[in-house]
Amino acid sequence: MNRFSPLLAGAALLSTPLLVSAETAVAPAPNGIEFPADYRDWKVISVSHRTDHHSMRVILGNEIAIAAARRGETLPWPDGTILGKVVWKEGAEPDWAPAIAPQAFIHVEFMEKDSKKWAETGGWGYARWVGSDLKPYGNDTNFALECVGCHTPVKGRDWVFTTPATFPPLPAGH
Ligand code: HEC
Repeated sequence: MNRFSPLLAGAALLSTPLLVSAETAVAPAPNGIEFPADYRDWKVISVSHRTDHHSMRVILGNEIAIAAARRGETLPWPDGTILGKVVWKEGAEPDWAPAIAPQAFIHVEFMEKDSKKWAETGGWGYARWVGSDLKPYGNDTNFALECVGCHTPVKGRDWVFTTPATFPPLPAGH
C-alpha cells in the first residue's frame, strides 16, 4: 500500500491542528501542575454551596479518589488522588424560583496527592484555573501558600474539607 496516500495525508493535515490545540490550549499552573483535561468525566464526591459567596460547587475525583471515597478510606487519601472543585455563581432556576442552580462558571481547582513530591505543602499540590478561558491562577509558586493557609483548619483531615456524600450501595442481588 502506498504509505503517502493523498487521502491519508489529507486526514492527517485535518486532524493534527485539532490534536495540537487540545493538548496545548491550557497553560500549566505556576508550580508545573498540568491541567487535567479529563476532569469533566470524573465522578462526584460531593457538592457544596457557599451562602456567603453565592456560589455552588461540585467536588469531583479521579478514579483513585473515587475508589478511596466509596470505600471510606480517606484518612489519608492515597497517593495519586486528584480532587477537583468546580465553582459557579448561583442563580434561581428559571422555571422554579426557590430552586437555585449553577450559573456562570467561576473557576476550577485541584489538589493532587503525592506525599513525597508535595511534602512541603502537606502532601498536596494545588492548582486553580480561572474563567472560561482557564487562565492559571497565581504569578509564582507562592500562590499555593494561600490555598494551604485556608485549608489548615482541616490539617487533621488530610487537608481536605469535603466529606464524601453518601451514595448508598444497592441491596444484594442488584
Ligand atoms: C478562603 C479559604 C480557601 C482558600 C483560599 C482555598 N480554599 Fe480550597 N476549599 C475551601 C473550602 C471551605 C472547601 C470546602 C468545599 C467548599 O465548600 O467550597 C475547599 C475545598 C477545596 C477542594 C475540594 C477538596 C476539599 O478540600 O474539600 C479543592 C480541590 C480545593 N479547595 C482547592 C484549592 C486550591 C487549589 C486553592 C488555592 C488556589 C484553594 N483551595 C484555596 C476553602 C479555601
